Amino acid sequence: MKRLLLFSVLVFIGGITATLLFAAISDSPAEKLWKRITVETPYSHWHHLDNHLSGKKSGTPYAPYYRIYVNNISNKSGKMLADFGTIFVRENLSAEKILQGLTVMYKIEGYNSEAGDWFWAKYSAEGQVEEAGKVKECLGCHSFAADSDYIFDHNLQR
Ligand code: HEC
Repeated sequence: MKRLLLFSVLVFIGGITATLLFAAISDSPAEKLWKRITVETPYSHWHHLDNHLSGKKSGTPYAPYYRIYVNNISNKSGKMLADFGTIFVRENLSAEKILQGLTVMYKIEGYNSEAGDWFWAKYSAEGQVEEAGKVKECLGCHSFAADSDYIFDHNLQR
């Protein structure tokens, strides 16, 4: 009986350890997306909109200047609506044009069909996830562009 108890305790502890380990090594969707846009397919090699690499003045209150990049999936589509797999990266720059962080839109089939299927994420310049998912703040403003697939800056050079 004692042995059985010891065995059960060991299995229990083992289970907890495995769960904790798994949680530690498996990245959240936002962390995976960060790796994708910085390591696997770095956005700095993507197409940038409107040839404004020096940083364009923003109409939004949350960053005085910005640069927008889009992955090649969108470039191929030639359509107004972005294809699934499209990723927009917006570099948010200070008044001195120093990178403050990234805001990202990633179109995933079936993720949020009521609002364009976009996954929203906000990162610090170092890649810390600040917000991610169906972020109300992002949607609240980008909903003004709902007719153009929640995208404001449509100047894609194909
Ligand atoms: C107050 C309004 C506002 C909020 C809030 C906002 N955005 Fe934007 N966003 C804009 C505007 C306007 C643009 C177009 C560029 C510009 O003028 O700054 C833009 C551009 C973008 C782009 C480039 C693609 C496009 O639509 O042109 C991405 C990516 C983006 N925003 C992500 C986000 C994310 C992620 C959040 C939430 C963390 C967010 N935005 C919150 C207004 C907003």
